[in-house]
Amino acid sequence: VTLGLDLGTSGVKAVALDRQGQVVAEAGRSYPLLTPRPGWTEQRPGDWADATLAALADLSGQLGELGAVPLALGLSGQMHGAVFLDACGEVIRPAPLWNDQRTDAAVEEIERRVPRADLIARTGNRAVTGFQLPKLVWLREAEPQNFARTRHVLLPKDYLGFLLTGEMATEPSDASGVGALNLARKDWDEDVLGALGLSPDLFPEVVNSWDIVGGLKAQVAARTGLPARLPVVAGGGDNAAAGVALGLTSQRPEVGSVSLGTSGVLFVPLEGPTPDPGGRVHLFAHADGGYNLLGVTLACAGALQWLRDKLAPEVGFDALLTEAAGVPDGADGVTFLPYLAGERSPHMRGDLRGAWTGLSLAHGRGHLTRALLEGTACALRDAFDVMRPLSGVTSLLATGGGARSDLWLGLVSGALGLPVKRTDREPGAADGAAILAMPAAGLFPGLSGALQALGPRPGATVPPLPTHRARQQHREAFGRLYGPPRDA
Ligand code: XUL
Repeated sequence: VTLGLDLGTSGVKAVALDRQGQVVAEAGRSYPLLTPRPGWTEQRPGDWADATLAALADLSGQLGELGAVPLALGLSGQMHGAVFLDACGEVIRPAPLWNDQRTDAAVEEIERRVPRADLIARTGNRAVTGFQLPKLVWLREAEPQNFARTRHVLLPKDYLGFLLTGEMATEPSDASGVGALNLARKDWDEDVLGALGLSPDLFPEVVNSWDIVGGLKAQVAARTGLPARLPVVAGGGDNAAAGVALGLTSQRPEVGSVSLGTSGVLFVPLEGPTPDPGGRVHLFAHADGGYNLLGVTLACAGALQWLRDKLAPEVGFDALLTEAAGVPDGADGVTFLPYLAGERSPHMRGDLRGAWTGLSLAHGRGHLTRALLEGTACALRDAFDVMRPLSGVTSLLATGGGARSDLWLGLVSGALGLPVKRTDREPGAADGAAILAMPAAGLFPGLSGALQALGPRPGATVPPLPTHRARQQHREAFGRLYGPPRDA
C-alpha cells in the first residue's frame, strides 16, 4: 500500500490505498485553530507534528493487523500557510494560515514594488491576502526580531516533510500558492523576490510532486511503527491532490471539478500556464506536471450552514432544501449576495458583504434558502465566466457536502451551463497524496498511468435547473450595492 497525509485546517487525515486505489485503512487527529486577533488565523506547527505522528501510529497499527506493507508516503495539505524556521530548523512563531487576513498592507507593498501585470505574467496570480509571500513581508514589518531569525519558510505540508525526513523541499502545486514561483520555469522568481529585498535562499528547493523528498527518520519510524527510510514523496497542495484523486489531469483538460464545501471551488486542468490577465482566478501548477485554474468563492455550503445556525437551528438541511425546491427560479424576486466572508474569485475583495434583497411580506423561509442556493451558484458562475475562455472544460465532477443535493447541483449546473456528474466514491486530498506516492513505490511506471487507472467512475449527470432569472437578479443586485465589477 501507499500512504497519504492531508494536513487540513481542522485536522490531519492519513490513509492507506491499495494498488487499485481503494482505501484499506484511515486515521485522523484534530488540532485547534488559533484566532489571536480579529482576522488572524494561526496554528502551531508542533500541534500538526503531534497529530500527524499519532495518526501515522494509528494507521501503522491498522496496517500491521491487515499484514499490509507501506511502500511510500505522499504529502498534501492546506495551501499558503507560512512556517518560519530559524537556522536550527526550530519553529519561530505560530504559522499564519491560508484564510488569515492580516496582510493588506503587505499586499499593497508587493503591488507597489512589482507591477500587478508583471506579477501575474510571472507567478499566475496577483498579490493575494492569504498567500505565503505577503506573510513574509508582514513578518519583516510587524515582527522584525522574528524576521531576523528566519532562515527558512516552509508551506504546511512541506514542514511535515521536514519533520518526517529532515529534508526541506517543496513541489510546484503548493509552491505556486506562495506568490513568488515563476510558473513557466517552476522555480522561485528571483526578480520578484529581488524587488522585495528577499533572498530565494529562504525557500526550499522545488522538486516534482511525485519525487522522493527523503526517507523516514529513524526516530519517526520508532514512534509510528512505520519502516525507517520509507520514501516520503513531495505530494501536492490540497486542491491539486484532490484533483489527482478525482483523476483530473492536464492531459484531459475537458474534465474539471466543482466542490460545494465551506467554500465553493472550481478546479480546471490546463496544459499551459495561461493566467487571467486580471488575476481574478488563481493559476497554479497541477501536481501532474501541468497547470490548473482555481476559482474560489468563499461562502458556499458555509453560507447554508450559517442560515441554518442563525435562522432555523431546529430544522434539518434536508427540510430546508425541500422548502427551497418548491420555490421557482429567481425565488419570486428575492436575491442573496453570498459574500459573508468577502470574496476571492472573481472580485478579489475582502470588503464585499452578504445581503438578501427584494423581500416582501409574501416571502417565507423557502425563498430565503432558495435565494441563498441561487446566490452561491451565481457566484460560481461569476468565477467561471473568467475561467471559461482560458480552458477547454466541458464537464465537471461534483464533490463536497452540498453536492449531495440534486437541487443545489442542478442550480450550479444550470448557472455554469455545464453538465455536472457525481462519482461512485468521493476521494479526497489524502487519497491524492497516496496516489502521488505510487510511482516512487514502484506501483506504476509514472503518474499518468496511475491517474488513468485509479480515478473514480463518473455517475449520472444531474439534471440542470433554470437559473435565468436568478442570474439576472444577481447581476442587478451586485451592481446596485457595489457598482460594476472591477477589472472586468
Ligand atoms: C486555495 C485555498 C484553500 C486552502 C484550504 O487557494 O486557499 O483551498 O488550500 O485548505
